[in-house]
Amino acid sequence: MKAKSFFTKAVRAGEELEKNYGAVSVPIYKSAIFAFTSADEAAAVHSHLKDGYFYGRLGNPTQDALEKAIAELEDAEDAFAFASGMGAIATTVLSLVKSGDHIVAPNSMYSTTTLLFKELAEKFKVEATFIDASKPENYEEAIRENTKIFWIETPSNPLLKITDLSKVAEIASRNDIITIADNTFATPFNQRPLNFGIDLVIHSATKYLGGHSDLTAGLVAGRKPLIDRMRFHGIKLYGASIAPDVAWLTLRGIKTLALRVERQNCNAFTIAKRLSEHPKVKAVYYPGLPSHPQHELARKQMTGFGGMVSFDVGSIEAGKRLVDSVKLCILATSLGGVETVIQHSASMTHASLSQEERMKAGITDGLVRLSVGIEDVEDLIEDLEQALEAC
Ligand SMILES: Cc1ncc(COP(=O)(O)O)c(C=O)c1O
Repeated sequence: MKAKSFFTKAVRAGEELEKNYGAVSVPIYKSAIFAFTSADEAAAVHSHLKDGYFYGRLGNPTQDALEKAIAELEDAEDAFAFASGMGAIATTVLSLVKSGDHIVAPNSMYSTTTLLFKELAEKFKVEATFIDASKPENYEEAIRENTKIFWIETPSNPLLKITDLSKVAEIASRNDIITIADNTFATPFNQRPLNFGIDLVIHSATKYLGGHSDLTAGLVAGRKPLIDRMRFHGIKLYGASIAPDVAWLTLRGIKTLALRVERQNCNAFTIAKRLSEHPKVKAVYYPGLPSHPQHELARKQMTGFGGMVSFDVGSIEAGKRLVDSVKLCILATSLGGVETVIQHSASMTHASLSQEERMKAGITDGLVRLSVGIEDVEDLIEDLEQALEAC
């Protein structure tokens, strides 16, 4: 029976009871090599004429189960798993572009993706144009003859800007451009970009999919011919393969994804609302608030607004004092775990950018990013309020 609800799908996604002797938890296949029964079989598997495994870097049954799971949850034809989100991003982009190609990407997004695109421009002549991705027409205006990829990150890290998925997908398909959406912040529970015409979805599974801050992994899901490039070409050359133990841990995380994110959506909304009423908070960025400039668009393409909230306390000093004063929230980079994590962007994730670059990307000195966990929301608010006293 095909499950309709995401809650059911998340629990059962990727399982193959028959193939695994009825094992309810997918086994961890520790083998790095797989034997053949004959030279003919070896030749067929090596040349991808027959399904099968032969070498750890190129795939494994536990990894397969995880790929099947994320493909089901993202409504994708196929998926591939990597050792980290950046492994997924770099391998995907390198598998699709050649020297002389062009990428259009948001001017405000995960800073390491920005750095990767800058490196590709400097070293390999794959240029990128960075645009305000909240206006889809900016993607169209940036198109050149050699544009290969539209990169999307919605909601974006850390400003929670929203990109119109169907409009950007429509512009791309008219111009034969591949669309890739980083869906890390939303998770497939809140948003499924492929249903809006996007070609590929990327995840840092380190975040919500793993969900417990205990693994590093990446995933890409989407159209089969594009995923085949990762499976038969990208992973072979660049080697950012996921370990079977980590694939298993990610699968276990996915079983509770819906429960966790449903709670994180509620907690984040309550916190965003309370922060927006606090006198020491200059601005709150949360797509679930009616005051968010793209709230209506977020309502159209998301079924929940996610667990990420950013807010501005006015200055570098105030931002640092706030994160130094929290007692329950954890001062750390990363996001998407069950525990609430706080960071001050200018001194942490965006510290590698110059102040001018940060300002251009809207990262103000007092910007604080909160990854809201599943704790009791009143405990979290009490902690934030006492820390705001110190600002
Ligand atoms: C939106 C987004 N995409 C990709 C990544 C990279 O993922 P990873 O750290 O798993 O390599 C991150 C990491 O913070 C992220 O926030």
